[in-house]
Amino acid sequence: MNIRKVVIPVAGWGTRSLPATKNIPKEMLPVYNKPGVQYIVEEAIRSGIGDVIFITNRDKNVIEDHFDYNLQLEGVLERAGKLDKLEMIREVAEMANCISIRQKKQLGLGHAVLCAKDVVSSDDAFAVMVGDDLMFGMNPGIQQLIEVAKSERLPVIGVMEVPQERVNRYGIIAGEEVSPGIYRVNKLVEKPRVNEAPSRLAIVGRYVLTPALFPLLEAQKPGHGGEIQLTDALQGLADGRGLLAVKIRGMRFDVGDWAEYLTANIYFALQDEELRDDLVRHLKPLLPWG
Ligand code: G1P
Repeated sequence: MNIRKVVIPVAGWGTRSLPATKNIPKEMLPVYNKPGVQYIVEEAIRSGIGDVIFITNRDKNVIEDHFDYNLQLEGVLERAGKLDKLEMIREVAEMANCISIRQKKQLGLGHAVLCAKDVVSSDDAFAVMVGDDLMFGMNPGIQQLIEVAKSERLPVIGVMEVPQERVNRYGIIAGEEVSPGIYRVNKLVEKPRVNEAPSRLAIVGRYVLTPALFPLLEAQKPGHGGEIQLTDALQGLADGRGLLAVKIRGMRFDVGDWAEYLTANIYFALQDEELRDDLVRHLKPLLPWG
């Protein structure tokens, strides 16, 4: 199973992050010193995926531009002798091969993935990564799925345990644990009521899927919120040859949630040795016990 492409749906409105996202795509909001979407692309690259397919809309061109050269800025930096900065921005332009596909109507995550059909359906399998979920750990989140997908030759989705009161924000799965942290999925429910969820295992925006999904998506009726849900179409894979879920090890921030977005900013800033002491000095007096 060869996985070379990742589909990154970026056509959402970002209403949770308004007013910041009134004219800026939510994926471009900085998390410390990089736009959030750059962390997603870097996770894919660290996992051996170099072809990125953005599912965009008319207002998202700035995302593609971020992963392209900016010759004017390069000239300015070169003339100013700021060679470290020059190298930094060239690296971003060269990190991935990008393709953009317009999602002309925003009909849901399942519909967004279906927009990539022509580009990925000749591959054995492809990755899907949702831009709201930033993940960090020793082993990149999507890489953990790829390893299982390759050894089991089945599609795999990433899950994490969430508190009971939050299950209604996610797709929730039920399954049997076939080896530690790996489940054979029987059932998936998109955003169940808190008291109706089949478990606390939530889908966290990382998927390795096979082209067998596309006919299911094409036939999929609108589900939760009147949208074509990826979660609903995945039930067809689970009922057919099978679908696995892997409990992802590592940290995760939902950057569409302000508290988690701000925590992600601080987490990354704290990893930067040059900034750490200054940041802690500024933060301390703000905390009640500071
Ligand atoms: C989407 C999926 C949901 C998943 C979530 C993870 O929901 O539909 O199953 O749990 O991403 O972030 P959204 O957050 O786009 O509403």
